[in-house]
Amino acid sequence: KTVSLIGAPTDVGASVRGAGMGPDALRVAGLFEMLRDHRFNVIDHGNLAGPPTPWTEPKGGVRHLEEVVAWNRAVFDRVAAVLAAGQTPLLMGGDHCLAIGSISAIARHCRYAKKKLRVIWLDAHTDVNNETISPSGNVHGMPVSCLLGYGPKPLIGWSGQPAALTPEDIDFIGIRSVDNDEKQTIRRLGLQVFDMRHLDEHGMRNTMIEVLQDVDDDTHLHVSFDLDCLDPADAPGVGTGVRGGPTYREMQLCMEMIADTGRLSSLDVVEINPALDVRNRTAELAVEFIASLFGASTLAR
Ligand code: ARG
Ligand code: MN
Ligand code: MN
Ligand code: MN
Repeated sequence: KTVSLIGAPTDVGASVRGAGMGPDALRVAGLFEMLRDHRFNVIDHGNLAGPPTPWTEPKGGVRHLEEVVAWNRAVFDRVAAVLAAGQTPLLMGGDHCLAIGSISAIARHCRYAKKKLRVIWLDAHTDVNNETISPSGNVHGMPVSCLLGYGPKPLIGWSGQPAALTPEDIDFIGIRSVDNDEKQTIRRLGLQVFDMRHLDEHGMRNTMIEVLQDVDDDTHLHVSFDLDCLDPADAPGVGTGVRGGPTYREMQLCMEMIADTGRLSSLDVVEINPALDVRNRTAELAVEFIASLFGASTLAR
């Protein structure tokens, strides 16, 4: 199996600066070497190019729309090429708006390959705002809406269908910050949100059994991993941290149970902000979790 690392060094969808340094933080933390040591063939495609972040106010409810489109176009094209080559794309963000390009390319690939796409969204936030309800105008809070077909026009329909995903295709884990109008959207669409209270009451094991129950041999499993899913005490290098995340052990179990399905086929690692980090701790933690996602285990070789 070949894993292709794709860097997208931008904070264009955020309002806190610094997530553009995420790809190099992951490289410095040893992502390439870790995967190689786990006997994957690894290709580092380097960093994609795109416009600088203009840091202007939102227009029509969206900040930096033109630049967000440009970055996502670059991500879409490279993820599509990597999938077409039969490789596993690992998108190194960058902020979470990049999941629009990444998952749109994956959805298109799955349609041609006749695979059923399942997305696991690991995050403190549901990112299901859009330009009419977002309190911030930041597109990193809108990727899920765009993928469901409800976002700003220039960001929808990239998969070749009106929506890249249907609500049943995505499960959210670790959620503890949802804006008021997002709550309504979640209820209306019937999104499967396993919030922190659900994890407290049922535990990570039972939650993951439920999330993974319908994963079969024809499933393409995609993980969109926002590092702010973790507690900021463990992962301080994020721009929109929220306390009360899953513990280190809970998150390890989550990753290990996903790995056990053998169906992990693509991954986004986003929202690492080295400008806010402590000695690259958050990127190093990300590399540990990615190792588990790709099947590293304490006892098995
Ligand atoms: N809900 C807030 C917003 O829309 C925060 C979103 C944070 N998203 C993220 N990918 N870190 O602005
Ligand atoms: Mn988040
Ligand atoms: Mn489900
Ligand atoms: Mn997010």
